[in-house]
Amino acid sequence: MKKNEKANPKEESAEPTACGAQGGNECQTGPPRFSTQPDTNIKNTIAVMSGKGGVGKSAVTMLLAVALRRRGFEVGILDADITGPSIPRGLGVNGRIFVGEAGPLPAVSSTGIKVMSMNLILDREDDVVIWRGPLISSAVGQFYQELWWGELDYLLIDLPPGTADVPLTVMQSIPLDGIILVTSPQELAGMVVAKAMNMAARLDAPTIGLIENMAYVICPSCGEKVEPFGPSHGEEAARKMRIAFLGSLPLDRSISELVDGGKLEEYESSEVEAVIGEVIKRVADVKGIKEVSS
Ligand SMILES: Nc1ncnc2c1ncn2[C@@H]1O[C@H](COP(=O)(O)OP(=O)(O)OP(=O)(O)O)[C@@H](O)[C@H]1O
Ligand SMILES: [Mg+2]
Repeated sequence: MKKNEKANPKEESAEPTACGAQGGNECQTGPPRFSTQPDTNIKNTIAVMSGKGGVGKSAVTMLLAVALRRRGFEVGILDADITGPSIPRGLGVNGRIFVGEAGPLPAVSSTGIKVMSMNLILDREDDVVIWRGPLISSAVGQFYQELWWGELDYLLIDLPPGTADVPLTVMQSIPLDGIILVTSPQELAGMVVAKAMNMAARLDAPTIGLIENMAYVICPSCGEKVEPFGPSHGEEAARKMRIAFLGSLPLDRSISELVDGGKLEEYESSEVEAVIGEVIKRVADVKGIKEVSS
């Protein structure tokens, strides 16, 4: 097993493969297991997922990365949304991927967050990728396996919406430490977030917890907390799904403005700080360790 390869619970209990070999993709009956470059060491790999689109997964992924970076952690984001990448824009990362001696290197944001995204390969930000599922999934595999990520405390994987090819590939082939589910209050009325959670459970991917995004607005004139989609159901939904509730984030115009302007690293909020504190604790709980080293 390579240095950064983590045991997969399914792998341990797997039936012997047809060829009888232990490990090695060529003899496995199941999906391939991805491993990173030998001199890359990722301590915590977390995928950010939602049942449906537009709930703020990418914004939340970036906010979590920014908050972790502020606490001094080495952080990377793998933008697994190949056809709708949005991470480079939000963090103001542009330019192309540099190929060093060790291989291709992720781009780096102004505060030091490492980023890999399809948009860093395309000639123009608005070039379109028209690929079928298997090709898209293989691009995600290459981003994970072939990049020289180096030493990372956290790699956050921003998934495309839903439960299709890419989430499936990421859950089956990347050794995940956990999944964070993002939802918005109106989505909670349905069962969509539960579908995402059920997928994670079926594939033995541990769930870190649920973040409710765009839960409320603070009135800019009177400071009153307004709940435009009605009262929050985040905690209740998490309880029903028997997963941890990591907290609520407000609908805040400055988030979308900073994303559009490539300056999300400037956003500061006590709510994000509270959520990230919970995330760090829960990741450690899920991994069964007391504290995650920085
Ligand atoms: N809490 C928030 N307050 C204000 N705007 C937000 C917030 N969260 C996300 N947004 C904005 O909402 C839009 C959708 O967010 P985002 O792209 O992160 O969603 P997504 O779930 O990643 O979408 P997709 O499913 O298409 O990947 C973006 O313009 C983003 O800047
Ligand atoms: Mg997104």
